[in-house]
Amino acid sequence: MADDVVIEVENLVTRFGDTVIHDGLSMSVRRGEVMAVVGGSGSGKTVMVREITGLMRPSGGTIRLFGEDIGKLGHRETEALRARTGMLFQSGALFSSLTVAQNIVVPIQAWYRLRPALLDEIAGLKLALVGLDPSAGQKYPSELSGGMRKRAGLARSLALDPEIVFLDEPTAGLDPIGAGQFDELIRSLQETLGITVYMITHDLDSLTRIADRVMVLVDKRAKVGTLDELRRDDHPWIRDYFGGPRGRAVAQSHAGADRPSPEEQSEQQKPAPIGPSPRRRAKAKTRSRSS
Ligand SMILES: Nc1ncnc2c1ncn2[C@@H]1O[C@H](COP(=O)(O)OP(=O)(O)OP(=O)(O)O)[C@@H](O)[C@H]1O
Ligand SMILES: [Mg+2]
Repeated sequence: MADDVVIEVENLVTRFGDTVIHDGLSMSVRRGEVMAVVGGSGSGKTVMVREITGLMRPSGGTIRLFGEDIGKLGHRETEALRARTGMLFQSGALFSSLTVAQNIVVPIQAWYRLRPALLDEIAGLKLALVGLDPSAGQKYPSELSGGMRKRAGLARSLALDPEIVFLDEPTAGLDPIGAGQFDELIRSLQETLGITVYMITHDLDSLTRIADRVMVLVDKRAKVGTLDELRRDDHPWIRDYFGGPRGRAVAQSHAGADRPSPEEQSEQQKPAPIGPSPRRRAKAKTRSRSS
């Protein structure tokens, strides 16, 4: 396994009874990239994250996380490997009976015994990292807006300073501006902390804005490529997804060829420009040299 590969899946098979979800699926994720994962509902996106992080055993195939074959690890070792990752679940899944600050430190408490004052301090740091006011820490999840809840979930996924974060539909349910801001946040975390981002999304805008590569789950397997490569793919589902009316509108608006909608205009007024950062451009160059 190459040094810069953090997830490697080979010939993955997943079955529930007679239903086959993945059938000989192979793919890999490189350190520091934003990998967007798309696929129809029920194509096995969430299940695969559970398998990669050792929460569920696949029916067949090999999964290496940070170079370790997780099928060969015991419970403790799997937990230790999982502690190097963070997860933002599809449902958000904050504990409603805990404050936001208490939620954020749950993963830390599973591993370390720290003084309450130190835990508070860490929670404060994580809140700042995701752009939430310190006062949000004392609130309960039900007292937050949808966007704030997503940020709080993200803060919790960053609790243990993960090397990879898995985000399952992070912008679902957010309005276009809220989703755009969340994307900016994810990209800036990826760039400043060097985190690998594995993001399941249905949001074409989001994918176009921040993905380095895209993985499409079709026919029980994965197709991985850049957005441009996948836009040229002739698989019917992929063609419909990227080349349908919605896909074309997004492509045009990001190319600046279309008159922007009000939402897009307010996006464009935000200070940070949308486009590859110098660091990302440098990374892309290194990649094209090495491939
Ligand atoms: N524990 C389980 N037992 C039986 N079937 C399951 C189990 N978990 C998932 N499945 C099935 O596996 C398939 C893939 O589920 P998964 O949650 O990965 O879909 P998904 O691609 O994430 O879909 P969505 O976009 O709707 O979130 C679904 O048909 C689901 O019903
Ligand atoms: Mg899912």
